Amino acid sequence: MTSEEPIILQLGPEDNAFARGGNRLCFVDPRNSDNCIKVARTDRTPAIKKSEKKFPASLKPLKFFDDNEEEFRVYQRIDQQIGKEAYALIPRCYGFVETDWERGLCSEIIKDDDGKISLTLKQYLWQFGYTEELKVKVDSFKQQWQSLGMPSRNLLLHNIVVQQKEEKIQRLVVIDGLGWPDIIPLGYYSNLMAKRKAARKASRLDATINRLLDIKRNQGDWGYHGWMDDDKRTID
Ligand SMILES: Nc1ncnc2c1ncn2[C@@H]1O[C@H](COP(=O)(O)OP(=O)(O)O)[C@@H](O)[C@H]1O
Ligand SMILES: [Mg+2]
Repeated sequence: MTSEEPIILQLGPEDNAFARGGNRLCFVDPRNSDNCIKVARTDRTPAIKKSEKKFPASLKPLKFFDDNEEEFRVYQRIDQQIGKEAYALIPRCYGFVETDWERGLCSEIIKDDDGKISLTLKQYLWQFGYTEELKVKVDSFKQQWQSLGMPSRNLLLHNIVVQQKEEKIQRLVVIDGLGWPDIIPLGYYSNLMAKRKAARKASRLDATINRLLDIKRNQGDWGYHGWMDDDKRTID
């Protein structure tokens, strides 16, 4: 291979992915197991997602339906407007890489100190309940989220992970759902607006948690997203 040829990372079959979200597959980066590469599911391409939208959302250019493109654009905004403090709350993002799937986005995997990939907040709540320890961490997360004015859609329990260290919760990290969803995203142009909007998103988290706890209490269904079996959490 000559040096001009682009490197195409071999991620392999879907089974190799450690997680499957509503839109993307997440693989451990074969070059560095501290990072992951996210690629669009073949049944959730930007063209398919665009075709499902009604007017006027259907008018948006194709790139707006590409989660990786969107996420990368949001990271650039976060770097400009918020800076390094944001990385207490989100993974580092390292940019695009060509893969045998399609162009993937490379970012830091959030892991516990035993080396396992951290559980989603949804799975943590389901397994351990809303403990006093977790409540304290959720409160400080909400405080930080609003004081930095972090841009996001509604905060979903399968898009937040609980990082643990020495069997204690170290922090909550938002791994998906970044960016203001509004047609005119005023939060990008006014810090005050961003803080207000982030406060609103953060304040809804308790209701979201309570809804999940109710489902569990009533022996309801876990749903589709956010469960990771132990073997998938282990990176070898
Ligand atoms: N950086 C990360 N660190 C740890 N786990 C992650 C990370 N990114 C994704 N995951 C896991 O993979 C799942 C799917 O990833 P996500 O980015 O939410 O995909 P989608 O965009 O399809 O919703 C998450 O629910 C989470 O369990
Ligand atoms: Mg997700």
